[in-house]
Amino acid sequence: MSAAILMPERVWEASGHTELFTDPLVECTTCNERVRADQPEVIQDHEAKHTRENKKTGWSEPKVFNLLVSTRLGASETTASKVYLRGEITQGVEVNFKNILDSMHPKLPFGIGQIGKAFRNEITPRDFLFRQREFEQMELQYYVKPDEVVGREAFEYWKQFSLDFYLTLGFTKENVRLREHRSDERAHYAKEAWDIEYHTPFGWKEAWGIHHRADWDLRRHSEYSKVDLSYFDEASGERFIPWDIECSGGVDRAVLFTLLDAYDEDELGGEKRAVLRLKPLIAPIKVAVFPLLKNKPDLVQKARAIYTSLKKEVPQSVFDDNGNIGKRYRRQDEVGTPWCITIDFESLENDTLTLRDRDTGEQERLSLPDILAKIKERVLA
Ligand code: GAP
Repeated sequence: MSAAILMPERVWEASGHTELFTDPLVECTTCNERVRADQPEVIQDHEAKHTRENKKTGWSEPKVFNLLVSTRLGASETTASKVYLRGEITQGVEVNFKNILDSMHPKLPFGIGQIGKAFRNEITPRDFLFRQREFEQMELQYYVKPDEVVGREAFEYWKQFSLDFYLTLGFTKENVRLREHRSDERAHYAKEAWDIEYHTPFGWKEAWGIHHRADWDLRRHSEYSKVDLSYFDEASGERFIPWDIECSGGVDRAVLFTLLDAYDEDELGGEKRAVLRLKPLIAPIKVAVFPLLKNKPDLVQKARAIYTSLKKEVPQSVFDDNGNIGKRYRRQDEVGTPWCITIDFESLENDTLTLRDRDTGEQERLSLPDILAKIKERVLA
């Protein structure tokens, strides 16, 4: 589904976010800057800055700071009401739960998925896409019968699913791990929480959360709105508030970690190069097609024809005749294109093409159907 970004204050009171969606902050007594008390690297950077200025750093006692971003909606200042930009996309699903039950009549267990922007008043946005004030989340709320055994099974299933999904993006296995939250780090809505973490150059960092939200959200929204959000189970004749097992991934962080994991520098043919070793499945360009020489009309015409038929089978193909062949290879290596096809004079004679592999730089002569078969097999591997 695609829910609203702006929702009334009451929704966020019900979800517990106005009261409990907070970060601990400390204030520097030397320059009055406020930073997160739970980010030792930020504290160290700040202290180092003052040390370089020959100043000492002192810190205030930690204070809680709410992360929600608010604005006002309405015709005039006096009648406008306070609304919040969603701090997590989840609440849009929870407040639409009854609409979905009434219109689609899903049977438990069922999931509601959503992708979209979330907004947080982060005090120290940093590390490129890692911590932003406006970012993209991809989530699944999976509703199950409120039962410890059923809840446990679903939770374990989605934990494993999340890890498997993350690994299909092509990460080095040793750079990805699952970690359980300590009770003092768990969000207010979570009865149990695990993170998928990625090993970045700035430490192990959260990529994706799996949360056992139990009946927290639906129960609170029922209480605050006085609307019955229970589910009637026809099989058992019981009425209950389902439990919610949540997968919540950051899209921006997945992109950042993919780039960090895939970026490499090596030497090929005696030259240094930068290469993005993206798994073929996620490479935005799968194949680049080149005529060996730009100023030979026969080669260009043949390369164009190959490109046109290839694009019907592999839409993520590009044509490039700019600069010399070595430069074209380097450009494609840098954006992670797994294969380059070159059309040379021999191609005009016997319809074979050279296929170059990004990772090894090795080239082989093959017909177009053989190249297509190879690419399809590797992309799906
Ligand atoms: N609905 C649950 C929820 O929002 P979360 O752990 O607060 O849980 C889920 O956020 C994911 O959203 C995180 O694992 C992370 O990937 C991403 N995320 C959270 N805050 C972010 C920020 N300031 N910048 C970029 N991504 C962020």
